[in-house]
Amino acid sequence: MSTSVVTFRSRKGGPLPLTMVTCYDTAFARLLATSDVDAVLVGDSVAMVVHGHATTLAADLDMMVLHTAAVARGIGDKLLVADLPFLAHRRGRREAVDAAGALLRAGAHAVKLEGAAGNADVVTHLVESGIPVMGHVGLTPQFVNAFGGFKVQGRGNEAADHVLGDAKALEHAGVFSLVIEGVPAELGARVTASVSVPTIGIGAGADCDGQILVLHDMLGITLKVPRFVRRFGDGAGMVRDAVDGYVAAVREHRFPDLPETYV
Ligand code: KIV
Repeated sequence: MSTSVVTFRSRKGGPLPLTMVTCYDTAFARLLATSDVDAVLVGDSVAMVVHGHATTLAADLDMMVLHTAAVARGIGDKLLVADLPFLAHRRGRREAVDAAGALLRAGAHAVKLEGAAGNADVVTHLVESGIPVMGHVGLTPQFVNAFGGFKVQGRGNEAADHVLGDAKALEHAGVFSLVIEGVPAELGARVTASVSVPTIGIGAGADCDGQILVLHDMLGITLKVPRFVRRFGDGAGMVRDAVDGYVAAVREHRFPDLPETYV
């Protein structure tokens, strides 16, 4: 089923929660295009999941454009959101428009940016320029150094009010949706009840309007995952078994056999 930012937004508070996963390449995009998932994010987590970096700060615009274009070639008519990487939207309107424009030209339908403080003007300008924006509050990984690690945010009244204030500021600036990451479930529910746009939770409890997971985490390919992840498959086992099966077949002269041989 095709999704746009308009149909996505219209599902706020609806009976059917929204679903998103990340994607970074054409092969997985082609598979996701045939799935029931509502929308796909080319997350800056690509720097960690695909490129092996310790944080998302290593993702730059070139990396994001390359992976967005690869996903766009396979994703069909699913809503495709791409992350503005670390600092890409912090040098002013012109640079933000250039960066977001490059992601839309690569095939994204919308961009996501992390944090609220200092971003309202840029969000409004992007939205008024025809670039839909998804916000991201709570444990925003681009702030890993400021947070002193990947730590749950919004614990305690003051910190919770801060996350809620960020969400309201982004809603006011014009985002069509908000990712809430790494906060207590009660705060995820409170933010969801307080904003008019759909919230997409990741480690933010069950009461958000939808959920997102990193594809490699939920497929069971990532070996070490945070508490909020559920593995919906044994991707690592599947890869290991298939590769070991192939190695054994070659070593035992069972592969290639006649059906796999040109005569
Ligand atoms: O980069 C990413 O993958 C993300 C999501 C997991 C929300 O921002």
